[in-house]
Amino acid sequence: MLKGRNLINTDDFSVEEIDEIMALAQDINKSPENFSNSCRGKILGTLFFEPSTRTRLSFESAIHRLGGDCIGFSESQSSSISKGESLADTIKTVCNYVDVIAMRHPKEGSSNWGSNYSSVPLINAGDGGHQHPTQTLTDMLTIRETKGKFSGLTIGFCGDLKFGRTVHSLTKAMSNYDNNHFVFISPEELQIPEYLKIELDHKNCSYEEARKLEKVIDKLDILYMTRVQKERFFNEADYIRLKDRYILDNRKLKDSKSDLVILHPLPRVNEIAVEVDDDPRAMYFEQARYGVIARMALILKLLGVE
Ligand code: CP
Repeated sequence: MLKGRNLINTDDFSVEEIDEIMALAQDINKSPENFSNSCRGKILGTLFFEPSTRTRLSFESAIHRLGGDCIGFSESQSSSISKGESLADTIKTVCNYVDVIAMRHPKEGSSNWGSNYSSVPLINAGDGGHQHPTQTLTDMLTIRETKGKFSGLTIGFCGDLKFGRTVHSLTKAMSNYDNNHFVFISPEELQIPEYLKIELDHKNCSYEEARKLEKVIDKLDILYMTRVQKERFFNEADYIRLKDRYILDNRKLKDSKSDLVILHPLPRVNEIAVEVDDDPRAMYFEQARYGVIARMALILKLLGVE
C-alpha cells in the first residue's frame, strides 16, 4: 500500500511497489483521458527552495491533468522562510492547506527531516547532491517504454557522478534488477561515491569505471549524460576545468549501438551537442514528457485514489 507514504529515497519503495507505479504510469500514458478527474478536490503543495523547470512544472502539470489544484512557491525569498520561519514550521503550516507536498531543498537530508513534520505525504523533489527519486521514476518509465525491460542492460552514466543526485537514485533503483551492468564514466574528481560502489558490491552487481566515453560507448544500451553541477562546487576554478570534459556529439556516437537510448535529466549545458537532438536515439525531451506521467502515477498512489 502506497497510500499516505512519503517518497524520500529511491529505496523507500520495494521493487513490487515501483513496478505498480510503472504499470499505472503506462496505463496513464495510453489513456490519459481516463484520469482527468481522478484528483478533483485534491491540492498539491510545491515547496521549492532551489531553482527548477522540469520537476516543479511537471508536478504542477501532473496534478492539473488529474483534475486537482496546486499551490506553492518557487524560491525561499517569496516564502516566510525569508523572515526567519523554520522549515519545520513551514511544513506544519502547509500541511493544513494541501493533500500532498513536493519539496526541493539544497540541503541533503532536508526532505527526510521535513517529513517528520508533515501530516500529508511528502515527496523529495531533490535534496542537494543526495537523491531525486521522482526523476528516477521518470527515468525508469522512459527505460520501460523504450527498452521494454529493466534487466540485462548495460547502463553508462557519464559526467558529474559525484554530485549528480539523479545518477545516485537511478543506480540504486536499477541495481535491484537482474543482470544489469553499470559503466561509470567520469573524471577522477567527480567519481561515483564510494557508498554506492559498496552497495553494488553487496548486491553482487557488476560495474566498471572509465575516464573516456569513446572507449566504452560501443557496449552501452543506455547512455545517461549529466551536467557538471556548478552549484555544488566550492571552487569555481575546478568547475571551469571540469565542465566541458564530456561533450556527446555525432562523432562520439559513431561506434554506439543502433538501439542505444540517450538520456539526460536536463537541464543541459554543453554536455550534449545540439546536433544530437536530431538522432532518433536522443530521448531526453521525451524523458521530460514522461516526467509528468510518472508524477501523475505517483500522486495517485500516494493519495490512494483508485
Ligand atoms: N531534471 C530536473 O530535476 O530538472 P529541473 O532542475 O529543471 O527540475
